[in-house]
Amino acid sequence: MEVKISDAVKYIGVDDTTIDLFESQYVVPEGVSYNSYLILDEKTAVMDTVDSRGAGEWEKKLVDALAGRKPDYLVISHLEPDHAGSIGRMIELYPDVTLVGNAKTFAMLPQFFETEPDVKTLTVKEGDTLSLGSHTLSFYMAPMVHWPEVMVTYENSEKILFSADGFGKFGAMGAEDDEGWACEARRYYFNIVGKYGAPVQALLKKLNSLDINTICPLHGPILNEDLSYYIGLYDTWSSYRPENSGVLVAYASIHGNTAKAAEKLGELLRARGVEKVVVSDLAREDMAEVIEDAFRYDRMVVAAASYDGGVFPCMQDFLNHLQSKAYQNRTVGIMENGSWAPSAAKTMRGILETMKNVTLVEPCVTITSTLKEKDLPALEALAEAIAKAV
Ligand code: FEO
Repeated sequence: MEVKISDAVKYIGVDDTTIDLFESQYVVPEGVSYNSYLILDEKTAVMDTVDSRGAGEWEKKLVDALAGRKPDYLVISHLEPDHAGSIGRMIELYPDVTLVGNAKTFAMLPQFFETEPDVKTLTVKEGDTLSLGSHTLSFYMAPMVHWPEVMVTYENSEKILFSADGFGKFGAMGAEDDEGWACEARRYYFNIVGKYGAPVQALLKKLNSLDINTICPLHGPILNEDLSYYIGLYDTWSSYRPENSGVLVAYASIHGNTAKAAEKLGELLRARGVEKVVVSDLAREDMAEVIEDAFRYDRMVVAAASYDGGVFPCMQDFLNHLQSKAYQNRTVGIMENGSWAPSAAKTMRGILETMKNVTLVEPCVTITSTLKEKDLPALEALAEAIAKAV
């Protein structure tokens, strides 16, 4: 797919539609793009390379776009291999290229590549500029968005922000995007960058002072319209504010009985006028999608079977994920199932209580093996408490 940015700024990234799991953990049914860009001026600059999986196609695009010229600079925004995986090939092809990075970039680079000692480097720091002719690059450090060496680059004449992983999205560049940018961008953000809300907030503050026309991320589409929409979502997400009013009911069920109780709770919530209720099966649904929903909505109920004196493993896994992604500022209800010695609630509560500003609502509901008539008052009370907790 041809992606047009401007006469001087070319897209030379590649789509990966055959990868089984991105980062060996995320399903990407619509693939993923590794974005790379070339700026043509009196000097030429390549903005990041691509994963080695796409090296051949990227090399062809690079050589074609250069049309016989040589790249003067390779700007390295981020050293994770999905972007830096072709740096070695770049140096083989163009040994005179100057690598542009910050002190952390060059401290970490030898961990990934054994570059020749005579490779040229230019170390930049916050606010430094690099003139290419009519284009001028300004560098802004963005540590922990998503690794410590990350920096973003602003091109002053065309007002383009090269935003590294920021504003990235799952999905190949040519993929249909029926659900809109936010759906897969949100799943990408909370699972990959989500832990680093404070560094994202720090970066957003820096961006406030820039006049940006176009955002060129390292994954997903180039953004050039209504940028306040995307920046506003990033502000919401990185400050751990809920994006929408609604309830996620996440359940972990062994034989389907906890699932039935979770579905019943969903019905009771809808009957109380909760406008959005999502009921998710942690054993079968994409965990990354459920994590996304946990952050998206302001309330959550966790419902799980007891297991080995603790909680059924997919719920343990889910809560561990939320904990590691800094889940916070939400209202949560608990429902457990146990046939002889219910233990799920205690385990879930123990994890949830470690999280910042998570309010646990009462009652905590316990069912024994199956949901029965006698359990309904407690379930109704939980639904009422969650529905009112806005
Ligand atoms: Fe797309 Fe953090 O790499």
